[in-house]
Order: sequence, then structure tokens, then C-alpha cells
Amino acid sequence: MGRQASGQDRVIESIAASAFTRLLGQAPDVTFVAVAESRPTAAGADALGIEPGYRLAAAGREAAEDERLTLLEQLYDPVSRRRRAPVQRGMRCLEVAAGRGSMAAWLAEQVGPAGHVVATDIDTRYLRRLELSNLEVLEHNILEDPLEALGPGSFDLVCSRLALFHLVGRQEQAISQMTKCLRPGGWLIDEDADWGTAAPVDPAHPLYDGYRRAWRDGDWWTSRGYDKAFGQKLPALFERCGLQDIRHEASTEVVRGGSPWARWWAVTLDVMNELGGGDDSDRRELEVMTTALADPSVWLLRELLHACWGRRAGDTG
Ligand SMILES: C[S@@+](CC[C@H](N)C(=O)[O-])C[C@H]1O[C@@H](n2cnc3c(N)ncnc32)[C@H](O)[C@@H]1O
Repeated sequence: MGRQASGQDRVIESIAASAFTRLLGQAPDVTFVAVAESRPTAAGADALGIEPGYRLAAAGREAAEDERLTLLEQLYDPVSRRRRAPVQRGMRCLEVAAGRGSMAAWLAEQVGPAGHVVATDIDTRYLRRLELSNLEVLEHNILEDPLEALGPGSFDLVCSRLALFHLVGRQEQAISQMTKCLRPGGWLIDEDADWGTAAPVDPAHPLYDGYRRAWRDGDWWTSRGYDKAFGQKLPALFERCGLQDIRHEASTEVVRGGSPWARWWAVTLDVMNELGGGDDSDRRELEVMTTALADPSVWLLRELLHACWGRRAGDTG
């Protein structure tokens, strides 16, 4: 499905390259140097008796997952749009693990009728509801399925959000696959998080200690096979996959219990616990956390939401 670059394509590539250069020239909120610390591997997940791969599948809980992903989109889309703002009309974009597809639909609007967006997921039940003439939906596993179905080497922009951290021990492989989809000079953007920070901030609050004891600076998350500090590793992984001109930013917020983020986080912890086979003691810990998350008098630091940009070597337009 590869594509020959036309004269018009080259103009678009040139506009895109300068737009990204402008974006990346701006001071990021926080810049991180790559951190090499222990990371769960597929073997590590096995040792915990956890299946590597995506564990929050929608099958059997379609409506609940639809609602959880709707909340996710409402929370994250404003920041994600800013981070992808340099997308230009006429571009060819790939949104990997697109979920319900709000960002894919937004990209389709930005690229216009002369552009094209491919949205993939292992489960396309929600994406199939989108009917846009320049948006193509493909059922595709970024780790397992041949890239030929997508068009390797053909995309100006490849994006993913909050999907890689699920692919425990195989994130570098996923980034490498996404990199192969880029045309020379094309950009990869991934947004992922460090979840360990997500906890109450006021030690004087009566619910602070209980939450902190249950959450254990994110080790509640680690014990379920996830890397609580995955997001900050993106630049190192991008570099290992041969990407260039790498920039990275991260941002967070302090919000109240009962806020949209706190509601989404409570539902997410609940589904992780249930699908991870949580026992009674896990459920008690969860209840301590969800009680705090529902209480508007509790102030909570959110996750650190990272974004990493990198460009495939070659023609920079
Ligand atoms: C937390 S959701 C995020 C959805 C979307 N990226 C967003 O931010 O709105 C993670 C998504 O990754 C998809 N996914 C998980 N593993 C995948 C894989 N190996 N290849 C493609 N998609 C995958 C899931 O089906 C799910 O839709």
C-alpha cells in the first residue's frame, strides 16, 4: 500500500516539517532526560501470573468501556489536540490503538478531503461508528499484524495515546512498528503517562493516609504488571528505534475528588482490579481509594502526562 510522493505531497511535507519545527521550538512544560530504571518485561508480567498484552478488553462490557473511553476523550483531547496542532491539510496520518476514535476523527477534520487518516485498533467496534470519507478504520494489532495492511513508509504523522503502557514489555517493538509506518522525515507522537503520582496531596486530610497506604506510590499498579513510570521512558525508546529530533514534555494538574478526572480514574482502577482478578483485600484497598476519589474535599495530583515527538530519518522536507 506504499505510495509515490507527488509534487503536491512534497509541498505538504515541507509545510508539515516547518510547522513541527515551530512547535518543537517552543519551550515544553517539562523536559525529561531519559531514565533507565527497572521496567516490567513480558517475562516479569508472566512471573506475576499476568497475561502480557491488553487487559481491558471491551468484550462483554461494551457499554461500560464506551463510557470509560468517552470520559478519557473528554479529559485528554484538549491537550492531545494542542500536541498535534501542527497537522496540516492534505497530510496522511495514522492513529494507532484509536479506541473510540475522537482523535482520529479530529485528525480527519484537520487533514481535510485531500488528506487521509487510518485509524487502527485490535477491537474496532467503536471506530466502525465513525463515518467520514477520509477516515479508514482497520482492525490491526500493532504488535502482531503485518504492516503492509497500513502502508509502511507512507505516513506524514503517526500518533498513539495511552495505549503503549498497556503493552507491557513490548513497547519498544510497538514504537519500532509505528516508526516503520512513517515516510522519511515523518513524525511520531506518543502520549503516555507516569501513573505513580496519582494520589491525594494534603497530608492533613483524613482520607490521605488510607489512599497512600493502598496506592503505595503506584506499587498497586506495579503489582498488576504495569510500569508506573512508563511515560518518562519514551525519549529513550524513541531513540533506540532510530527516531531523530526527539522532544519531550510532560504536564499534570491538581484536581478535586468528584471531578471528571477523579471519576475516570476511579472507574479505571475498578476495571483494572476486576479484570486482574482482584480478591477481597484488593477490593477493600480499592474502596479506600474510590471513597477519596469521590470526595470533593480531597485534592489529588493527577498522573504526569507525557508527550514525545520524534522524526524518522531522511528527507525533512
Ligand atoms: C486506553 S485505550 C486508549 C484509546 C485511544 N488511544 C484514546 O486515547 O482515546 C487503549 C486502546 O488500545 C487498544 N489496543 C490495545 N492493544 C493493542 C494492540 N496491540 N494493537 C492495536 N490496538 C491495541 C485497545 O483496544 C484500546 O482501544
